[in-house]
Amino acid sequence: MSILFYFDHDCDKQVESHLRQALLQRLPTETVIAWPDTDSPSDIDYAVVWGPPPDFFRNLTQLKAVFSLAAGVDHLLLHPGLPQHVPVVRLTDAGMGEKMAEYVLFGVLQAHRQMHLYRHFQQQRIWAGQLPSAAAKSVSIGILGIGILGQQVARRLTMNGYCVQGWSRSEKKVAHVITCSGASGLDQLIRQIDILVCLLPLTEETRGILNLDLFTRAKPGLHLINVARGGHLITADLIAALNSNQLGSALLDVTDPEPLPPEHPFWEHPRIFLTPHISAPTQQEESIRQIIDNLLRHQKGLPMLGVVDRTSGY
Ligand code: NDP
Ligand code: OXD
Repeated sequence: MSILFYFDHDCDKQVESHLRQALLQRLPTETVIAWPDTDSPSDIDYAVVWGPPPDFFRNLTQLKAVFSLAAGVDHLLLHPGLPQHVPVVRLTDAGMGEKMAEYVLFGVLQAHRQMHLYRHFQQQRIWAGQLPSAAAKSVSIGILGIGILGQQVARRLTMNGYCVQGWSRSEKKVAHVITCSGASGLDQLIRQIDILVCLLPLTEETRGILNLDLFTRAKPGLHLINVARGGHLITADLIAALNSNQLGSALLDVTDPEPLPPEHPFWEHPRIFLTPHISAPTQQEESIRQIIDNLLRHQKGLPMLGVVDRTSGY
């Protein structure tokens, strides 16, 4: 079995050595090749990728599966060379859920306790005194995308006393979470919540979902946390909603593009807190273990876990 990999990361070498070591332990006779070092692309069975270049898939005529080193596959599915017949397999949790839950909890606490305002007062040298602070149980949080990561985030927030609602495409039952689906479900949810968390995959249906129409249906002062993809959010709509106080603040871990150009309005907006796509970094060991488990399942003719539905886009 031959595995070709590509990561457009500065940690390439580390990932390559992890992959080799893990394979050596579990599949000692297999080869791992770093793109573009392959002499015979038609011998490659599996690809493991993050951000493959345009000609990556050229002549990979015997490819059996593509493993994404990410949970979100929006970029990969848009790759013009991606073979149509080959299964694409994404990471499912692989340690990211815990990191995501920590990050969102931070964002929720910051919004709930109005830390962005205390920060502003500090910059103005104002000893502001106490701002009103509701009990956690009366703060309602809406999670768009109550999937693998969304459910871990919900669990952490409910453990901290928050009231959580979750929105998905199909109907779901999640312990301690009020769930809903479809356009009417979203309409009800957005009117009730204080903090909105986006954890949706970026698909044709969800692109631009964080827009002025949604924001104007929310309670004034809604706080936004976007940890999914920059393409979910309409830039001008966020700025307008913040400037009219329809939104209270925004914590953005993802933007479109990444990185943002220096003149982008998000950099300097006083009520936007930006982080550089760090909420839930790929956990190398767990990810590689998950990929190898799936490779072995495929070899044994068993169904792989995390196969992407190319029609729905996630
Ligand atoms: P899942 O596929 O497990 O969950 C996605 C959820 O979104 C599901 O509940 C799904 O509904 C719901 N959904 C999808 N389309 C729609 C729609 N049109 N309307 C309503 N709900 C919809 O994905 P993960 O939880 O593993 O990951 C979610 C996303 O998080 C990734 O796609 C990626 O973009 C982002 N991410 C960001 C990271 C970061 O560091 N910032 C790290 C990792 C992931 P249903 O359950 O019915 O299918
Ligand atoms: C992912 C990411 O989708 O890191 O896994 O953004």
